[in-house]
Amino acid sequence: MTITEQQKTDLVARALLARKNSYAPYSKYHVGAALLTEAGEIFDGVNVENASYPLTMCAERNAVFKAVSAGSRRFSAIAVATENGGSPCGACRQVLSEFGLDTLVLTADGAGRIQLETSVGGLLPSAFGASDLDAD
Ligand code: THU
Repeated sequence: MTITEQQKTDLVARALLARKNSYAPYSKYHVGAALLTEAGEIFDGVNVENASYPLTMCAERNAVFKAVSAGSRRFSAIAVATENGGSPCGACRQVLSEFGLDTLVLTADGAGRIQLETSVGGLLPSAFGASDLDAD
């Protein structure tokens, strides 16, 4: 999905801002995400860890779930901010793919520098999706 350079800058800024609320006392890997809808709204999310480690939820999925809960399902882009510009995990790629392979994915480091610019489809080739459920 094509968005303007200004929109990219704004989205990364929102992800960095959200990252301040990351709850990551165990890994200390703080993640903020900002998801831009086609309507121009931004939903953010952070990773929320738990003393029972597997209950942790990633920033990207929190952003998607907030958006969908508010009635938005059409997304243009997501920015993910971490210290080192790390890439979305496999679970988050799968959840993002549910709502479109063309969604632009930006990762940014702690200084807001874009480290990766791709799409959900680029991150998850041959994605499993709804059409696979019609196979038999
Ligand atoms: N994390 C995310 O929030 N998003 C990802 O895509 C990768 C991992 C979080 C989960 C956990 O709180 C911490 O980063 C370290 O794995």
